Amino acid sequence: MLELFKIKKNHFVGIDFGTASIKVVELSYVDQKTILENYGFVELGLANRGNMKPTSLEQVLNDSLKKILAKMNIHNAPAFVSIPGFSGLVAIIELPSMPAEDLTKAIQFEAHKYIPSALDEIALSWEVVEKKEEQGEVKDNDNFISKLKLKNESDSKSGEKIKVLLVAAPKKDIEHYDRLVSGAGLEVKAIELETFSIARSLVGDEPGVFLIVDIGSRTTNLILVEKGLIQANRNIDAGGEEITSAIVDMLRISRSRAEVFKKEGKDILNSNESPLVVPVLDLIVGELHRVISAYKEKNKGSKLDAIILSGGTSKMVGIEEYFAHALGEEVRIGNPWRAIAVGSEMAPLTKALGASFAVALGLALRGVEDYKKK
Ligand SMILES: Nc1ncnc2c1ncn2[C@@H]1O[C@H](COP(=O)(O)OP(=O)(O)OP(=O)(O)O)[C@@H](O)[C@H]1O
Ligand SMILES: [Mg+2]
Repeated sequence: MLELFKIKKNHFVGIDFGTASIKVVELSYVDQKTILENYGFVELGLANRGNMKPTSLEQVLNDSLKKILAKMNIHNAPAFVSIPGFSGLVAIIELPSMPAEDLTKAIQFEAHKYIPSALDEIALSWEVVEKKEEQGEVKDNDNFISKLKLKNESDSKSGEKIKVLLVAAPKKDIEHYDRLVSGAGLEVKAIELETFSIARSLVGDEPGVFLIVDIGSRTTNLILVEKGLIQANRNIDAGGEEITSAIVDMLRISRSRAEVFKKEGKDILNSNESPLVVPVLDLIVGELHRVISAYKEKNKGSKLDAIILSGGTSKMVGIEEYFAHALGEEVRIGNPWRAIAVGSEMAPLTKALGASFAVALGLALRGVEDYKKK
């Protein structure tokens, strides 16, 4: 077959299927520099997503993806795709040290405790994170395991406990995103849980302890990262949509006006007179408290370096101050563009997009990292 578009081996496309939009970014790696080639997003407009037939939802995702790829002139490049955090599981489990063959069985047994569905319906990967020579993988899907750099932190002797990073996602979700992206003509190189993409773009190898809070449209993903390794992960079934609902209730205006009002740039969260009461933010604060206390309890004397906010809702004016006040910790807005060379014509726009592109960038960065290793 005549090849119209030559595959660009040093270009990497990250595709984030969010509930509100699909975000796409294209990075290249040239002369030891990671360069932003292009980015784009398409709003899905799926307010009634819950009532949609799966076939109609599939059609919307299909059409939207093709539209944005055509607009960005992306025809042939290795693609890296995310699965929403809430669809999968990332857990650190502790087991007694044992030979690799026994470990596979023990991990599958442990996984059952976390995952209600049948094991043959999920892709399961694991890695010993504190005893590198015993690492292994249950090969259900070659594309599916992703982790930040794993550290050989301690020399666990026999009889000691070992820490295992367990990653799982439904096979049907993996196949679904694979089908969508291959159907749009791209070569799917890897599919990973967005939890890993976010941690890669916002923390990467940075030493220290960070708690990432990615607040999207309908979900919030909390990721505790220590020395580049995920230590805890929680997903909350709520996000920016609930902030819009709180504005609707407070001001008694329509949803579309409330959405505009939310983005107007006024600090409605920390106002002295009548601050907006947002139950979902309190819910997130409560969960953050629990994650931080559990970490400090387990690692006596350790401290958190910062809470890093990301997702579209991190653009809300005053949200940094809100969390800092509620938690008494240092809070900052994540910058997933920090290691990427951005041309002057695109710089103002990437600034406006801020941390909402953390997933897409983390995915494309995985391509760059894999390429550098070759
Ligand atoms: N400037 C802004 N101020 C306040 N909220 C904003 C702003 N810009 C975007 N948002 C909110 O961010 C949310 C979208 O975030 P994001 O793009 O991260 O979601 P998503 O990835 O599509 O959804 P999810 O991760 O839940 O699947 C929406 O609720 C939107 O209203
Ligand atoms: Mg998202």
